[in-house]
Amino acid sequence: MKKATKVLALLLSAAMLMSVLTACGGGAAETTDAAETTEAADTETADTETADTTAAADTETEAPAAEDEAAEAPAAVTAQEGVLTFGTNAEFPPFEFVAANGVIDQYDGIDMAIAKQIAEENGMTAAIENMEFDSLLIALQNGQIDAVIAGMTVTDERKEAVDFSTPYYTATQVMIVKEDSDIAKASDMADKKICVVQGYTGETCVSDMGYDYEAFKKGTEAVLELVNGKCDVVVIDSATAQKYVSDNEGLKIVEDPEAFASEEYAIAVQKGNTALLDMINSAIEAKLADGTISELSAQYLDADSAE
Ligand code: ARG
Repeated sequence: MKKATKVLALLLSAAMLMSVLTACGGGAAETTDAAETTEAADTETADTETADTTAAADTETEAPAAEDEAAEAPAAVTAQEGVLTFGTNAEFPPFEFVAANGVIDQYDGIDMAIAKQIAEENGMTAAIENMEFDSLLIALQNGQIDAVIAGMTVTDERKEAVDFSTPYYTATQVMIVKEDSDIAKASDMADKKICVVQGYTGETCVSDMGYDYEAFKKGTEAVLELVNGKCDVVVIDSATAQKYVSDNEGLKIVEDPEAFASEEYAIAVQKGNTALLDMINSAIEAKLADGTISELSAQYLDADSAE
């Protein structure tokens, strides 16, 4: 039994290490030491083992609140009963952006549609708190929001602060350049002026590559800089790049899969909020299986190119 756990931990460590190695080209691996990897693997093992207990706890919660005060029931899946409050940064089309007729208030996009469905399928209302991308995980830790849905890439660093759901979308960093640019691969950025968005994984990638860059608060600001000829390349997530290129004349996307590995988007919850995580995971897994998420992605990407 102990042996099996050890083997599992080892396998998980290996898997974690691989995901670190592919996080953003080669650079990220150096920053993770063995201890960290093992620690993370241990946590995952623990999660797996407690899965049954959690299910049992859920059942208990649904039973009439015999011993609990009626006002206190049910268990605190969310801060405000019946409302699932998601934090996002609505500056990231096609995942979240502000629109006249959004799916949740003025907020629209793939993530917003997913958030609304998760809440409503569980008899709750979805609410959105729009804030800076950099503030999202802190707001989650503070309990200001119940979950983060923001095209957020799962990274080892973020995993230390929060728990992530089953990933629902695979992306990669790409380079947006002017149509006549001679940038054809990531290493061509070496002597160019690079723009990124502050706190995004694109910033980490460029910084790990050892290049200088300028960081902006919003993707639109970085792209405007490129359009105005004040920078040569914007490094940002693929689907968002597609949206910016279709919205602005004279730009194109350059991919370099060897330099930029794939990234996975997932929903974040407070560490240890397994009740909410289980609820979100069941919803996401169902939506991946029945094609809802690919339909939403196609719908919002098509809407972008038609604009
Ligand atoms: N995927 C990138 C990251 O996790 C960018 C996400 C930006 N999302 C947003 N809603 N502004 O860092």
